[in-house]
Amino acid sequence: MSTVTPRRFLLRPFLFILFLLMPTITASLELSKKQIIARRSQRDLSANISISQLSLSGVDLSTSLFDEFGYTLDSVAQVYDILNVGIQTLLVDLYWNEQLEKFQLCPDQFQMDSSSSSGNSSNSSNSNITSVYTSGNDSAVVCLRSLSFNDLTSFVQSYIKDSDTNLSADLIVLILNLHHLNNTSFAYPEELRGTWNDTLTSVMTNYFDHYMYTPIDLQTDRAIDVNKTNLVDGYPRLSKFLFTNKRRMIPIINQYEIPSYSNYNASMDSNLFFNMTQLNTSFSSFDNTTTLDSIDQIKNKASQNWRFSIDSPSNQFTSDSIHDQIINGYSPLLNHTVTHLSNLSSDLFGNSLWLWPENEPLFINEAFARYSNDSQYIQEAYSCAAMFVQNGSFHVSNCYQEKKVLMMDKQNTYNWTVSDEKVNYFHGGNFDDNKWSFNVPKDALQRASVVLMLNSVDSDTDVDVWVDLNSINVDNCWVTGGPYASCPYQTVSSNRNFVEMMGAASVCCLIIIILIILLRLRPVSIRDNRKHWKKLLNQYSTTNYDGVPA
Ligand SMILES: *[C@@H]1O[C@H](CO)[C@@H](O)[C@H](O)[C@H]1NC(C)=O
Ligand SMILES: *[C@@H]1O[C@H](CO)[C@@H](O)[C@H](O)[C@H]1NC(C)=O
Ligand SMILES: *[C@@H]1O[C@H](CO)[C@@H](O)[C@H](O)[C@H]1NC(C)=O
Ligand SMILES: *[C@@H]1O[C@H](CO)[C@@H](O)[C@H](O)[C@H]1NC(C)=O
Ligand SMILES: *[C@@H]1O[C@H](CO)[C@@H](O)[C@H](O)[C@H]1NC(C)=O
Ligand SMILES: *[C@@H]1O[C@H](CO)[C@@H](O)[C@H](O)[C@H]1NC(C)=O
Ligand SMILES: *[C@@H]1O[C@H](CO)[C@@H](O)[C@H](O)[C@H]1NC(C)=O
Ligand SMILES: *[C@@H]1O[C@H](CO)[C@@H](O)[C@H](O)[C@H]1NC(C)=O
Ligand SMILES: *[C@@H]1O[C@H](CO)[C@@H](O)[C@H](O)[C@H]1NC(C)=O
Ligand SMILES: *[C@@H]1O[C@H](CO)[C@@H](O)[C@H](O)[C@H]1NC(C)=O
Ligand SMILES: *[C@@H]1O[C@H](CO)[C@@H](O)[C@H](O)[C@H]1NC(C)=O
Ligand SMILES: *[C@@H]1O[C@H](CO)[C@@H](O)[C@H](O)[C@H]1NC(C)=O
Repeated sequence: MSTVTPRRFLLRPFLFILFLLMPTITASLELSKKQIIARRSQRDLSANISISQLSLSGVDLSTSLFDEFGYTLDSVAQVYDILNVGIQTLLVDLYWNEQLEKFQLCPDQFQMDSSSSSGNSSNSSNSNITSVYTSGNDSAVVCLRSLSFNDLTSFVQSYIKDSDTNLSADLIVLILNLHHLNNTSFAYPEELRGTWNDTLTSVMTNYFDHYMYTPIDLQTDRAIDVNKTNLVDGYPRLSKFLFTNKRRMIPIINQYEIPSYSNYNASMDSNLFFNMTQLNTSFSSFDNTTTLDSIDQIKNKASQNWRFSIDSPSNQFTSDSIHDQIINGYSPLLNHTVTHLSNLSSDLFGNSLWLWPENEPLFINEAFARYSNDSQYIQEAYSCAAMFVQNGSFHVSNCYQEKKVLMMDKQNTYNWTVSDEKVNYFHGGNFDDNKWSFNVPKDALQRASVVLMLNSVDSDTDVDVWVDLNSINVDNCWVTGGPYASCPYQTVSSNRNFVEMMGAASVCCLIIIILIILLRLRPVSIRDNRKHWKKLLNQYSTTNYDGVPA
């Protein structure tokens, strides 16, 4: 015990300086309108793909967030923005504090003030106790003891609720690593102890409830889907998951490092959480990832599910390598410290879709400005997508232009060909027969098989080919299914704008209602020079109230 007090005294000024030096978190994490459209169109194109085959970006929160910005409420609040820029996998380390009987985010033991451990409850700053933790990248960061799993889940929950519309909903994978802290030399005061609702199951159920897709759901889905309409390879299709089951989250426990002597009761966890083997999940380190050079490799990769690749401080992902991982069928998980969180969206994950490269799909006016000068075509409509033969990159093109057409083997989603003749987009289906149909790759592995095919055919003269993807029906709403495919959303407008509009309208309504109530309740408060108004309003309100039949 004698070593405790000096350390604590030394800590105080140090903590203060640390607060001053801590990198400030600038909340500028937002997607541009174009990035939102691009993400949504990739999601919609993968509607019939198994959720286990999706390309998901992710971050390890310990290394990329907390080790740099500290284990504080400010940091945890950033999780909302991280999800908001399209990062769909969160890797979270949780520490079961044996003495406190709850999970904490801070990896450090806490030492109580001797006064408070002897039961002085007037010291109410207990929950604000911080320590200095030396993180993985050797920087000292602040750790707030009271930071619990609940704090994290509350921000994830608000993101899920805010984005729970057909336009914005997407899958979130929450992967937990459970660790253990055991410090018998300190007696924590009773009021800080966890309760029955601090178990993982309680927290997850309290915050996510029906948004979670559990092992029991998977079992049920597998049992009833005898005709394999809603499941592919044993996992639900994305559209079934998001829009039929209305689920948003896959909870997974990866590492379980709580020893058996612990008082942690894990008996309920397996009802709620998947383990890695159940989902056939794999973590590959960035150094060991492979590229796709043959159809056999593609098929082999497709037989695996949830293929995460993880970087490390010594071999870090860049924007280019993240894109490379995505188009080779991996879901990259960032495991290094970022100094500015805004880098996540602007730089690192700025080009993390297998469908559209950065800055695509061009808006109609942008495409017009860029291509219209060189166009030999009288008619122009920049609402159709084509794929570059050289690199498999998608881009917006003039639907009236004549190009060869990309076609898929109806029996084999990795067997593709191009038509011999060139047509405009509207005639893309002309060459359909009982084997081939005008089509578009629906996930990263299908895209890779198209790239292999395009590289092998001799097409020096062709710059690009048509794919079955257009926004003819509604601007910026990209759909597949030929030129007559309709947009599932009436107009593409952000839910948030709608909320803002509603907000302004409700404020107006509220003012009017308050006015009416005031006028009814306190007619004397209205000055004489407003008699006219008062009369009118009173008349209005009384007739209104009297006129409503019971
Ligand atoms: C998904 O499958 C359904 C039924 O087979 C089909 O109507 C729809 O067009 C498909 N959607 C996509 C994006 O492939
Ligand atoms: C609690 O501690 C404060 C100073 O930290 C002291 O003034 C107070 O008397 C203590 N109360 C009890 C009940 O020990
Ligand atoms: C953990 O705490 C228990 C008592 O709760 C003790 O028996 C055990 O030795 C401790 N283990 C470690 C590694 O400190
Ligand atoms: C957990 O339980 C405590 C008391 O038992 C209560 O104060 C708290 O609100 C509960 N938290 C949740 C999220 O239900
Ligand atoms: C499965 O398909 C068969 C034949 O197509 C049909 O008779 C049966 O009703 C289907 N079962 C379900 C559960 O849809
Ligand atoms: C763990 O929790 C389950 C369900 O709440 C309960 O039946 C069981 O007795 C508990 N086990 C221990 C060791 O407390
Ligand atoms: C994962 O869960 C399954 C089913 O509950 C179980 O059979 C298996 O032993 C678990 N694997 C691990 C590594 O915990
Ligand atoms: C799990 O993945 C391995 C490859 O990592 C694959 O060979 C195996 O078939 C998969 N198992 C299931 C049940 O999907
Ligand atoms: C992330 O990196 C840290 C070391 O920097 C390592 O301890 C941890 O296991 C890594 N995470 C994963 C999921 O590999
Ligand atoms: C396209 O033409 C306009 C005038 O018609 C010209 O101002 C513009 O620079 C041209 N753009 C390109 C890319 O050639
Ligand atoms: C793909 O190749 C085309 C030319 O064939 C080029 O214009 C385009 O910039 C390339 N895209 C990427 C993302 O490299
Ligand atoms: C792909 O289609 C070609 C042309 O019909 C056919 O010869 C080949 O066998 C198909 N490949 C596979 C793997 O189905």
